[in-house]
Amino acid sequence: MGAVVKAAEELMQKVMGNWDSSHDPFHVYRVRSLALSLAAEEGLLPESRQIVELAALLHDIDDHKYASSREKRAEPTAEEFLTQHQIDPVKKEAIMNIIHGMGFKEELNSMSKAKFTPEFAVVQDADRLDAIGAIGIGRSFTFAGARNCPMYDPDIQPRMNLTKEEYTSTNTTTINHFHEKLLKLKGMMKSQAGRRRAEGRHKFMLQFLDQFAEEWSGKL
Ligand code: ADP
Ligand code: NI
Repeated sequence: MGAVVKAAEELMQKVMGNWDSSHDPFHVYRVRSLALSLAAEEGLLPESRQIVELAALLHDIDDHKYASSREKRAEPTAEEFLTQHQIDPVKKEAIMNIIHGMGFKEELNSMSKAKFTPEFAVVQDADRLDAIGAIGIGRSFTFAGARNCPMYDPDIQPRMNLTKEEYTSTNTTTINHFHEKLLKLKGMMKSQAGRRRAEGRHKFMLQFLDQFAEEWSGKL
């Protein structure tokens, strides 16, 4: 393993080691292995590997939901890390393009300057695959639980077609979050390989939502 990859793992572990388990190092390692496997399936060239791997490892360390106050943290940002490790400027830009552009909220922003390269596609698809299916269900309840959000409230309607300004991830219920975001991700996949793998995960969420509704209604 390259020294830079090892250093990126260590930085990520240090920054995210105490975050709730919807965004912990295991999330990042799952995204890395999914992204590399999508890259292989999509036939990306070996020189793309470092871009995909570093973008996956560093994609959440500056997430504002967790890493709000930059001054308080001793560890470098993703961009500072890449500069410190003398990553080639073209590669660095490719990695930062992925990290800055891959979030769901960012994609709702019509002003987004993200370039949808093949490397971008596999890292974003990998992060989104980890947000759906059984793991996605587990993560969504974990995220909401950590913020004390209700899992369901029949009086709170899901808000469809949210704009970037309207989308804040905490003023909703977890079941609404499926309708506002998670069920849309299958249709937003950017690689063939990602689309293929989203199918089963998506179906599983629909089955979960049906069962949840039946149990809530008392029919089951
Ligand atoms: P992105 O990485 O696309 O910006 P987030 O970091 O906001 O997405 O969300 C990652 C995961 O955190 C979601 O897929 C979900 O599992 C969980 N999450 C985010 N917002 C909510 C919410 N309001 N309720 C439940 N889970 C949430
Ligand atoms: Ni992520």
